[in-house]
Amino acid sequence: MKITIVSGARPNFMKIAPIIRAIQSAQASGKDIHYRLVHTGQHYDKKMSEDFFEQLNIPTPDVNLGCGSGSQAEQTGAVMMKFECELLEHRPNIVLVVGDVTSTMACTITAKKLCIDVAHVEAGIRSGDMTMPEEVNRMVTDSICDYFFTTTESAFKQLQKNGIDGSRIYFVGNTMIDTLYYNIDRIIQPDIWEENHLSRGKYFLVTLHRPSNVDNVINLKNLLDVILRNTNGLPVIFPIHPRTKKILDSISYAKPNLIQTDPLGYLQFVYLMKNAKAVITDSGGITEETTVLKVPCLTLRNSTERPETVSIGSNELVGINPSNLKPYLHKLHNGIWKPSGIPPLWDGKTAERIITLLIKLYSPVSIVHSVAIPIRAEI
Ligand code: UD1
Repeated sequence: MKITIVSGARPNFMKIAPIIRAIQSAQASGKDIHYRLVHTGQHYDKKMSEDFFEQLNIPTPDVNLGCGSGSQAEQTGAVMMKFECELLEHRPNIVLVVGDVTSTMACTITAKKLCIDVAHVEAGIRSGDMTMPEEVNRMVTDSICDYFFTTTESAFKQLQKNGIDGSRIYFVGNTMIDTLYYNIDRIIQPDIWEENHLSRGKYFLVTLHRPSNVDNVINLKNLLDVILRNTNGLPVIFPIHPRTKKILDSISYAKPNLIQTDPLGYLQFVYLMKNAKAVITDSGGITEETTVLKVPCLTLRNSTERPETVSIGSNELVGINPSNLKPYLHKLHNGIWKPSGIPPLWDGKTAERIITLLIKLYSPVSIVHSVAIPIRAEI
């Protein structure tokens, strides 16, 4: 069987690394499985992309579609046009997409219009917030793809609620956590550790990139001011996403306790997460990683598509009003934070389960998947 794996933006890279490893190990045990890796180029800065490929030992993509920057529609259109050419030239049995970024949705639509099966890893999660482009990406992807691999039971149930037949949904666990376990003994102390005399449990780590937090410069400044006023003088490490940097640069924001850096490599970032007093973020993936690392996490969003990080894990949903942070930080400083557990099947073996299932589904006896294929899409 032939799989085309799509990756486009930073959070995708951690999700595809263990899948490729699982394919390689299936190949080594004689299974007839081949993959082609497509990078859409959605994230293109070295620090947002290439460095992750190096650190996670992901093979160089077979092709890079070069679709970085632009508006949501421009990015979606560019990825669809380029990915269509890719699929016409290298037709797989199945396209595998991960997560909820623009590339995930664009490649799913393109493949389905060429009557190619699509499997979605991290299917079924929903924030209920339609102002997030990721929510639109999730809903579109899950409404047309063929196989659904979920990180949690609630995502499984969500898909059933949306009318998807249970026989196409597989609760397999979390590939991002596969990557975390695989690399936990390889994490690297970043240079800023020594430069700023950091020590374990004595600093905060902050990441912000969502439009609702960063696109308005006054709001972003206010948010950082509140964080800095309530961290009891501890240093705040802030690896800045390119989107946030463009906005922050316009006011040259600088404060004594704020350590601003470029985006960090995966191994350096996990080092900082693992040793932080707490992480303050608007990312979804980080709430999963801090849950497994059992590090307190404060999420600056009004909703989450990952409710288990709150109900089981170490995450609290603070909301986007900066003043909400204060009571949570107060609790933290007083040493009162809830104990954290690990959601079921977040055990480091998810990618193996996915590949085993795909091999079974696409073995020669499963004739149900050998669809007759049009050469070009008919509109
Ligand atoms: C994307 C994902 C989001 C994910 C985030 C992690 C979508 C809709 N959103 O958001 O789910 O959590 O990545 O990083 O897909 N830019 C650069 N250099 C880069 C990448 C982006 O300068 O390497 C710029 C872009 O040109 C754009 C802005 O940053 O101006 C935002 O990038 P974009 O890919 O649109 O979305 P993200 O905000 O990164």
